[in-house]
Amino acid sequence: MKFFVDTADIAEIRELADTGLLDGVTTNPSLIAKSGRNFLEVVEEICGTVEGPVSAEVTALDAPTMIAEGRKLAKIAKNIAVKVPLTWDGLKACKVLTGEGTMVNVTLCFSANQALLAAKAGATFISPFIGRLDDINLDGMELIHEIREIYDNYPALETEILAASIRSANHVKDAALAGADVATVPPAVLKGLAAHPLTDKGLEMFMADWKKTGQKIL
Ligand code: G3P
Repeated sequence: MKFFVDTADIAEIRELADTGLLDGVTTNPSLIAKSGRNFLEVVEEICGTVEGPVSAEVTALDAPTMIAEGRKLAKIAKNIAVKVPLTWDGLKACKVLTGEGTMVNVTLCFSANQALLAAKAGATFISPFIGRLDDINLDGMELIHEIREIYDNYPALETEILAASIRSANHVKDAALAGADVATVPPAVLKGLAAHPLTDKGLEMFMADWKKTGQKIL
């Protein structure tokens, strides 16, 4: 499974990129607003920090303007994935932009049929929002299972399932079990994945016993 970080905070992105385990970044207008940075500048900086896909979202609602915005974003760097919303205009824009060789992430997906349409439109990624479905008492993870099953029924569909709106470590684990290709994860949740109290306790015991031997490796 690939890990993307869901943030426009360059310091967080650098810290995670340094682990060598980060495969990409996703941003959205809310995350750009939270960063307080200029959109085009921060996206360019992120693209220079990670090698993998960096999602940057269009803000137009009509296909022609989405396409124009997407073309401008795609010029920022080779690793830009233009993010478009799952509307008919977004799907039209997806078809055109992917036809031009640009990676496209179709976002705000809340149903399996929407995911099927995005794949038919040639999306590089489909972003089903797990947490927001859970928020309204629906089952976000069930959607990942459904999309996986549908995409697997049609091997010609190459769209990757990018589990988004992830809120917890359990969301990451369950998305992996459901066969999501990618999870985009908030920095705090991503950093927390390595943590376990028994790891800390075990390490403490090993270190105490090692000290008693009086030895050193280096
Ligand atoms: O990138 C979109 C997505 O991950 C949003 O998450 O927590 O705002 O629903 P959230």
